[in-house]
Amino acid sequence: MAVKILRIDRPVTNTMTIDELFNQQNDLKPIYNLLTDFNISKEVFIENEFNLNIKGESVYIKAACVKLFSENKKEFSTIIILEDHTRMIQTQKVAAWHGMARHLAHEIRNPLTPILWAAESLLDADIKNSPDFMKIVAENSNSIVKEVKRLQNLLAKFSSFAKMPDVNLKTDRIERVLQETIDMYAKSPMNIKIKTKFQPDIPLVKIDAEMIKQVLINIIKNAIEAMPMGGNLTITTVSLDKMVLIEIADTGIGIPANIQDKVFEPYFTTKESGTGLGLTICSKIISDHGGHMKIISRENEGTTVIIALPAEMEGTKT
Ligand SMILES: Nc1ncnc2c1ncn2[C@@H]1O[C@H](COP(=O)(O)OP(=O)(O)OP(=O)(O)O)[C@@H](O)[C@H]1O
Ligand SMILES: [Mg+2]
Repeated sequence: MAVKILRIDRPVTNTMTIDELFNQQNDLKPIYNLLTDFNISKEVFIENEFNLNIKGESVYIKAACVKLFSENKKEFSTIIILEDHTRMIQTQKVAAWHGMARHLAHEIRNPLTPILWAAESLLDADIKNSPDFMKIVAENSNSIVKEVKRLQNLLAKFSSFAKMPDVNLKTDRIERVLQETIDMYAKSPMNIKIKTKFQPDIPLVKIDAEMIKQVLINIIKNAIEAMPMGGNLTITTVSLDKMVLIEIADTGIGIPANIQDKVFEPYFTTKESGTGLGLTICSKIISDHGGHMKIISRENEGTTVIIALPAEMEGTKT
């Protein structure tokens, strides 16, 4: 069964070593690494999910490793449990796209009606003679501009979600990307203080800087929107356990406990003009980088978004 899940089509015998089994097949390297790292680590259990590209096929595998110790605790054998989630993930993806298409159609229909009305009344021959002509033109044009902008925002978000290009990873310093993004907000008139606490000599990361900026912009925008009366935005970097963590903490309205697990869902929003795609896009980009995201929030106290990216192990500073 394991051979089938891992799509190994070479003859496999009971006497093969792990190296013989995995090492010839580069596409199984992540699972080989999990197993070999686990064997030299102190952990007794580990699990991870992998999206592998095995001979051109996108395969989702969940792997768990357990150590079984001998009575004197000196030796152990390792059991690896593999689950093939490929079919399930594909079904979920198709369902997600159906939902997305339905919702998008609905979102596009909403602003189209006011645009049509505004344009139609501008074409109305009678209004040219009206004493309020200039006022009506201004009002209707404003309404068209407002609704078109809303559509543009929706489409920009949607296409960055749908046509998300493959990540183009380059070794980079995370502080550089953070600072460049923060600088975009330097002149913001709002009463928001941005503080940074960057860990010196933090490991480098392999990232697509433009996409990480997009993530940061979405998170900072959420934080600013959560602090309409102003507040503090604290951006921290720290390395932990082969990961580089970026923490973005605001002192805003917080997220009520009962909706905290919904915020990553596509189209979940509590804002009048929100698309609810911001955090969905962020978590997609971060998982494409082999990282993950977490949100810790307390209502009326603030929200902290934590992004974990794999650290580049060779070398630290440029
Ligand atoms: N820093 C934050 N403080 C309080 N609530 C937040 C914060 N970040 C996210 N949320 C909550 O999570 C929801 C989803 O956020 P997301 O960024 O995905 O969409 P949005 O901000 O509503 O819309 P858009 O990003 O398109 O403007 C928000 O509507 C809000 O309720
Ligand atoms: Mg948002």
